[in-house]
Amino acid sequence: AERRLRRMLEHLVAPQLSTVSLDRSVCLSQTANANAAQEDVVYVPGDFARKSLISSRSQYEELYNEAIADPNAFWGRVAAGYFWQKLWDTSKPICNYNFDADKGPVFVEWFKGGYTNVCYNALDRHVLAGHGHQMCFLWEGNDPGQNAYLTYSDVLKKVCQVANFLRARGVKKGDRVCIYMSMICELPIAMLACARIGAVHSVVFGGFSSESLAGRILDCQAKVLLTCSGGRRANKVLPLKQIVDDALQICLKEGNFRVETCLVYDNSFAIPRQNVPWVQGRDVWWQETISQFSVDSPVEWMEAEEPLFMLYTSGSTGKPKGLIHTVGGYMVYAGLTFKHAFDHQAGDIFWCTADCGWITGHTYVAYGPLLNRATSVIFEGVPTFPDAGRWWQIIDKYQVSILYAAPTAIRTLAAQGDEIVRKYSRKSLRLLGSVGEPISPKTWQWFYDVVGDSRCPIVDTWWQTETGGCMIFSLPGAWPMKPGCASLPFFGVQPVILDQEGKEQHGPCEGYLCIKAPWPGVARTVFGDHERYENTYFKTWKGLYTTGDGCRRDADGFIWITGRVDDVLNVSGHRISTGEVEGALVSHPLCTEAAVVGYDHEVKGQAIYAFVSLSHDATPSDALKKQLQDAVRKQIGAFAAPDVIHWAVGLPKTRSGKIMRRILRKIAARQFNDIGDTSSLADPSVVDQLIKGM
Ligand code: WT7
Repeated sequence: AERRLRRMLEHLVAPQLSTVSLDRSVCLSQTANANAAQEDVVYVPGDFARKSLISSRSQYEELYNEAIADPNAFWGRVAAGYFWQKLWDTSKPICNYNFDADKGPVFVEWFKGGYTNVCYNALDRHVLAGHGHQMCFLWEGNDPGQNAYLTYSDVLKKVCQVANFLRARGVKKGDRVCIYMSMICELPIAMLACARIGAVHSVVFGGFSSESLAGRILDCQAKVLLTCSGGRRANKVLPLKQIVDDALQICLKEGNFRVETCLVYDNSFAIPRQNVPWVQGRDVWWQETISQFSVDSPVEWMEAEEPLFMLYTSGSTGKPKGLIHTVGGYMVYAGLTFKHAFDHQAGDIFWCTADCGWITGHTYVAYGPLLNRATSVIFEGVPTFPDAGRWWQIIDKYQVSILYAAPTAIRTLAAQGDEIVRKYSRKSLRLLGSVGEPISPKTWQWFYDVVGDSRCPIVDTWWQTETGGCMIFSLPGAWPMKPGCASLPFFGVQPVILDQEGKEQHGPCEGYLCIKAPWPGVARTVFGDHERYENTYFKTWKGLYTTGDGCRRDADGFIWITGRVDDVLNVSGHRISTGEVEGALVSHPLCTEAAVVGYDHEVKGQAIYAFVSLSHDATPSDALKKQLQDAVRKQIGAFAAPDVIHWAVGLPKTRSGKIMRRILRKIAARQFNDIGDTSSLADPSVVDQLIKGM
């Protein structure tokens, strides 16, 4: 296998791209926001721009302006790069929409009337063009030495087999299929199999608890569930099939709902087969069943606006929303953003470290790379196992040229010191990417200097589950980078920054980030609840898509994302709703009230601080703290457990009973001198009591 890999890499890696060099220079503009010192540091993409797809701001501007002035020409040209079984209706505008809820239902349509299939464009198209032998996935297991290498034709065959199995089990176009797996190749294969037959996949991240999984299965009424016996992360075993069984029990008890088929990949490396719980008649072993199916499978041609997948994400309140992404727009947007955000070119080895359970994994592990016929690394494990050199070792082993990672992982590795990084060559790297949360200038600098040897541009990509693909990012090679700055919008994306009153601001400013008109990748609805979609994204500011993020624009027109302006938390890049965590806490019989806020954390970015009031007969104790944390683990997942539990005699509330989180955030951050105005509180003495209770 090692020899095969080496041969394959020789075949793949293009002659060394000329070394990329970036020069530190002074700021483009001396008038930039003076209170942000980091804006003084600017990195000019020197040699990188000689070979990059876009190499100047003017080249970018030409395309950016065209995409807005003539979307038919711009997006029509991009979409024409894919196979359409029937072209969209070219006599109508390529995009139809209404963002103004007062004028009727909000809707977005792209490429209406066109028929295509995302799986066909991601696999068949390349195989038919003679690229079947090209490596598609280079899989690296949790334990070093565990590998799998699949070519494009290998993947296509496996996808067809799963697609045929699903059809045999009665799955039809529009049916929902839930996927709950660890990061093995069969996870993207399962997604593609659904896409092939027009089933709507709902991937649930393997870190979610059985109760969360049950809630998602019930919400979308999944017909089939695809899973694996277990997974491994560092020294831990994830008993995925056990969690699935618990979840399906809950579905039966609480929703009187039965999943008909459960296909289980036997991952005996994690869990021996005889230890896997089994329900006769419902459960089927993946390997032995799938091998009986044909490696050819017809494609279901899908109308552009039919759903491709749904993905649940958290807002500030209520249960998670199943956002729907559609076939045509998502395909075109995933494909084009992948190509440009990462300057993807023939010979690149791409590695996105995200899990397929999040949107980053959907767009930049599964769909984006395959639509561009990229070769990517898929890694099942964690950055620090068996030691903190694992990522750098993988980069050398596969000659990774593009690394796309999350700031939380970068901070974890930076804390381990430079020596372990420098033990590895990393010469193959030419581009670094960041996603999921703001990357601080300090972390940016370390990523740039140490990981990239001051040689690789860093692409800071801002986007969301709702946007389908990257929206605002430092297009590599096109303009100078500022550490911690996402910079400018992608082709066709029109950000507007509003003040407190909702007035659009121009020039340097700070405010709420909204988007003016649709881009192809925007989510079209919330599954089963279009009203919630309208209320969440289109009612706050008339006629605009509300992102929920705040930002600042500097004198160069560059946008700096400042973080959420609602009650959504971002812990280690995981999006968590304060309301959901509070709900889990108050489900404990001794908890009468809970309020959750985030506070700054070295590694996680944000950590969770919970103020908890207990019933009068309860005594605070460490054991009770643990029970409360366990309640959150059980109802959401371990990643959402509060870091701090603060026993609160009372919570700061307005006279109308609204909890003032602004005050709680200050207390959690220990900024006691900066609490601000407390006069509107029903009982201002609560604040002093809380501070005394620290
Ligand atoms: C929220 C969306 C996009 C894929 C992963 C997260 C924050 C994301 C950045 C960035 C600053 C960022 C925002 C956004 N965020 N990327 N580069 N700089 N903030 O997707 O789970 O839907 O979370 O993540 O607050 O709203 P998600």
